[in-house]
Amino acid sequence: MITIAISKGRMQDDAIDLLAQAGVRLSADSLASRKLAIEDQSGEYRFIFVKPADVPVYVEHGIADCGVVGRDVLLESGADVLLPLDLGIARCRLVVAAMDPTVISRAFGMLRVATKYSRLASAHFGSRGIPVEIIQLSGSVELAPALGLSDVIVDLVETGRTLKENGLSVVEVITESTGRLVVNRASYQLKASEIARLSNALTKAIEGVNVA
Ligand code: PRP
Repeated sequence: MITIAISKGRMQDDAIDLLAQAGVRLSADSLASRKLAIEDQSGEYRFIFVKPADVPVYVEHGIADCGVVGRDVLLESGADVLLPLDLGIARCRLVVAAMDPTVISRAFGMLRVATKYSRLASAHFGSRGIPVEIIQLSGSVELAPALGLSDVIVDLVETGRTLKENGLSVVEVITESTGRLVVNRASYQLKASEIARLSNALTKAIEGVNVA
C-alpha cells in the first residue's frame, strides 16, 4: 500500500480531483467523514490529511510514501524529499506586500517582516542586504501592517483579493508556487513500480488524458 499525505485546506479539493482523474478514487462516504486517514476504493492507497507544513515532515520520515504540497511550503521546510512532479494545481505567488510600496527604501534600521515563511523571507532580504526583523505568524498575515505589527509581509497571493481588501499591494514577487508530488527517498527505491504507476497516471491526468 502507498500512503499519500495531502495538504488540508486550499490545495485539498484540487488534489483529490486530480487523483480521481488519475484513477485513485475516494468514496463519497470517506470524503464526507472527518477521518484523517482513509483508504481509496481499490485499497491500494491510504490518504492522510495533515496541515500543509506537516506534509514534508511525514514524507521525509517515511510515514507517508508520497505527499501533495505546495512548492512554497516545501522550500520553507527544507525537507529532504524527492520532487518528481509539478501537478499544476493551486498556482500562486510568494510576494512581498506593503500598504506603502516605498516602505522598504524608507525603512530606518530593521525592516519588520510578518510572515509564515520566515526561512524564505530571511533568505530573500538577506540576499539583497536588507536587515530584517522576522515576525513569525501562523496565518491572517495581511492584518499585520494595518495594525502596526510590521512594515511589510511575505505571503502567498492567489487571486490578490486578500491583499486588496486589506489595503496592501505587491512590492515584489519572490517566487511562484504550484502543488507538487513529493516522494520519500527510500519509498522511491523500495516501491519503485507503484510510485512510477502513480506518477504516470498523474502525468496523464495533468495532460488531460482520461485514465479512469
Ligand atoms: C492564503 C494566503 C493569503 C490568501 C491569498 O491564506 O496566506 O492569505 O490565501 O489568497 P487570495 O490572493 O486569493 O486572496 P490561507 O487561506 O491559506 O490562510 P492563512 O494564511 O490565513 O492561514
